Amino acid sequence: MPTETVYGLAGMAFDETALARIFKTKERPQFDPLILHMTSQILGGPPFFAGLVQAHLIDLQRLGPAARVQAERLLRTFWPGPLTVVLPKRERVPDLATSGLDTVALRMPRHPVAQALINAAGQPLAAPSANRFGKMSPTSAQDVMEELGDRIDFILDGGPTDIGLESTIIEIAPEGGITLLRAGGLPIEKIEAIAAAPVQVGQTVAARAEGSGIKAPGGLPSHYAPQKILMRLPAPVSRLKTLADFWNPAESLPEHLGLLTFSRDLGSVQRAFAHLTGRKVTAVGLSTRSDDTEAARNFFSALRALDRSEASLLFVEPCMQSGGLWDAIADRIRRASSQRG
Ligand code: TXA
Ligand code: MG
Repeated sequence: MPTETVYGLAGMAFDETALARIFKTKERPQFDPLILHMTSQILGGPPFFAGLVQAHLIDLQRLGPAARVQAERLLRTFWPGPLTVVLPKRERVPDLATSGLDTVALRMPRHPVAQALINAAGQPLAAPSANRFGKMSPTSAQDVMEELGDRIDFILDGGPTDIGLESTIIEIAPEGGITLLRAGGLPIEKIEAIAAAPVQVGQTVAARAEGSGIKAPGGLPSHYAPQKILMRLPAPVSRLKTLADFWNPAESLPEHLGLLTFSRDLGSVQRAFAHLTGRKVTAVGLSTRSDDTEAARNFFSALRALDRSEASLLFVEPCMQSGGLWDAIADRIRRASSQRG
């Protein structure tokens, strides 16, 4: 199903067969929990936090007063939309959906087709991004066809997705503290403004991936990866002086290179990189007006275009901006390019 962030591989959340098939279809490891997608109708209308409690999805007993206030505020403000909230779960939520964790990830997409499908199902839909595990999230029906076309029954074509990056995932602790588990389509500043509290970043993901079990594999390196090797340049092309600035001259460089660029002027950055490397260059731009919304929307489709191109080695300029959706873009670049090159 299309959502406003990326396409999701949807199955009924209370149907264990459907859940098992999601994992199998994606080749997704069992330790990687799913997000449950709901609608206003499924929750009996706003307020959505109360609806989650009434639907026996979340465990109110394990949320202190501050946590309840934060959850209420955030859901009232940002649902439906690109915010996923992790809260203590009730027994009604199958362990298969949460990989045995005692928390559940919940989201209310704002895409009308997703909402119609969930309403037709009459229950929440579990939906990870509709790609094979570790690959790039699909932002069009064609992308889903490439990723999973031979393994699934239907694709609902809702056109290219609006946001282009996955939802922002936060966990609300019993005492009310908010931790960012994955940067995404909702900027952290917006969450902080409504929560009137700082969002702790990254710590939980790193700590848990290291220690007691993995909380958000979307937070692991080497995720969202293209087929070809993607290398991060140390600086924008306009600031690189020689090949040695980013490449060991003793090593041979392939004939045809790909470049993912933030530059507003695609032609000139393409020529500059070709001049610097002495190679043929296919350049794909993220935004012609340095706009984070546009760059996010184009991000995965641009990487897929480079993956399909003649280029055999891909480079990406570093993201030089922060705030808004730039942080999520920088995060995806790090993960798509880490452990490579
Ligand atoms: O925008 C999105 O969120 C898309 C669309 C389809 O809604 N979905 C998506 O799902 O990106 P997926 O499965 O690719 O990523 C979900 C992430 C995973 O990294 C998973 O580990 C994390 O959510 N997650 C799920 N349940 C969790 C939990 N209880 N605690 C911590 N992380 C959780
Ligand atoms: Mg995913």
